[in-house]
Amino acid sequence: MADNNNIKKEIEKRRTFAIISHPDAGKTTLTEKFLLYGGAINTAGSVKGKANSKYAVSDWMEIEKERGISVTSSVLQFNYKDFCINILDTPGHQDFSEDTYRTLMAADSAVMVIDASKGVEAQTIKLFKVCVMRHIPIFTFINKMDRDAKDSFELLDDIETVLGIRTCPINWPIGSGKSFKGIYDRRAKTVRTFKAVSTGGRSAAEETDFSIDDENLHEIVPDDLYETLIDEIELLDGASDELDLEKVSKGELSPVFFGSALNTFGIEILLNYFLEMTSPPLARLSDKGLISPVNEPFSAFVFKIQANMNKAHRDRIAFLRICSGKFDASSDVYHVQSGRRLKLSQPQQIMAQDRQVISEAYAGDVIGVFDSGLFAIGDTITLPGQKFEYEGIPTFAPEHFSRVIQLNSMKRKQFVKGITQLAQEGAIQIFQEYTAGMSEIIVGVVGVLQFDVLKYRLENEYGCEIRLEPLPYGFIRWVADTTTDVTKLKRMNNVKAVKDMKGNPLLLFVNEWMIKMVLDDNEGLELLEFKKNVSANSPDIQ
Ligand code: G4P
Repeated sequence: MADNNNIKKEIEKRRTFAIISHPDAGKTTLTEKFLLYGGAINTAGSVKGKANSKYAVSDWMEIEKERGISVTSSVLQFNYKDFCINILDTPGHQDFSEDTYRTLMAADSAVMVIDASKGVEAQTIKLFKVCVMRHIPIFTFINKMDRDAKDSFELLDDIETVLGIRTCPINWPIGSGKSFKGIYDRRAKTVRTFKAVSTGGRSAAEETDFSIDDENLHEIVPDDLYETLIDEIELLDGASDELDLEKVSKGELSPVFFGSALNTFGIEILLNYFLEMTSPPLARLSDKGLISPVNEPFSAFVFKIQANMNKAHRDRIAFLRICSGKFDASSDVYHVQSGRRLKLSQPQQIMAQDRQVISEAYAGDVIGVFDSGLFAIGDTITLPGQKFEYEGIPTFAPEHFSRVIQLNSMKRKQFVKGITQLAQEGAIQIFQEYTAGMSEIIVGVVGVLQFDVLKYRLENEYGCEIRLEPLPYGFIRWVADTTTDVTKLKRMNNVKAVKDMKGNPLLLFVNEWMIKMVLDDNEGLELLEFKKNVSANSPDIQ
């Protein structure tokens, strides 16, 4: 009983979230500042080498050799106040891949970072859509207020129209760029003034709190900015959505914060409100109904598999999100998909910079375990005797396609084995044309870097040389009714019909306009952007 209480307490402390942004909006800087508050690191610049995050594609192989290091930055855990925080890293830049999306399946909420001078950008939209699909709370941090910013109302409008989510500003900026003076906390009715000091450390900006009608505030905030603030507060109070936590929890309303990550300004407010407004891990859906994190024993699902880039790629790490109970490394677990009972090998938790072998972890945590090839993305792990499966991880739409030409046809067997295994790992998706023979395979990826991964690994691990012929398509849609005869659809010029390895029909489009045309001309046709509950496993090619 005492142990149960302890488990409950541990789980209730957990907050597991992802930070999403378009590259350069400030995700790394914000993560780093969160860690500084948690005391997990002492100096700025230590989350990940900036040089590493901006490498050119040609440097990639070297970087991958160091994967031992970047694996460690997949999850960052630290304590802040009474909370135990897990930040899930969503790879960006050239690293962007399906893994980025899958990581969001393991998060309970998301912080969306937006560059105040740019507004909503392309990659934010994609990641955001995945969060919306999951109905998880989304918090918005409008960053870089120390630079000239777009009008704040315009930024809110941008979020609401482009992303289709309502917004509720929790605080409001006073000026921007050189005239950025601080932020107004709408609930506390106080102004936190901003004075840039130096960059880097925990208190880079000097912060002072004033009540909105404090005379001394006028010494810092010039009259014109003060008047604008009063007008804008009035406008907000009259016109903006009220803070409704129920709507926040369903991902329908996003609380909005302003600040400057680089100057560590507005970060503490964001973190505190975020922790107050989000919940500990919630029940998750399985084929046996909802599984309560607190009342059920240990269970987890695999959301990501990372293979090392050396030739002996058996060295794979499976990332598990614990969904219920306590994980005890000394106990056997049950792998539902294979029906096997086993001990998880060298379970590790990732604490800031270090990988540590751990003996226990709780619902909300993410652990990495060595995998001999047993696990696939989406698999469920429980305790022996507990047999249920968590909802699968959707297959996300690839955006880049190439035809794979095998250069040495004598190595057909190795080629099939290699490409099948890579598809099982979830690194690529494979498709076949309706008309072509088995020798023609189309590969789809979310991030172009995955093409390099494919070529490199087929050559190095399976001894197969290939050539990739890029195809002009950028949009893929699953045909909802899988019995549809796609060869009979109208308006199919410039649209390619393919099937996945399970025979499901899909269409490849050059642009979104073509999708609309095909939908308009084929009554009753339904096209899907994600394929729910179908993992990339068990492709079957000859
Ligand atoms: P990312 O992970 O989302 O890609 O963004 P990252 O944090 O790496 O930030 C991208 C750039 O924006 C960095 O500059 C960073 O210093 C800067 N930045 C982040 N937050 C702020 C902010 O609040 N204000 C201002 N003015 N700049 C900010 P860089 O020049 O690319 O890198 P670095 O040389 O400064 O490290």
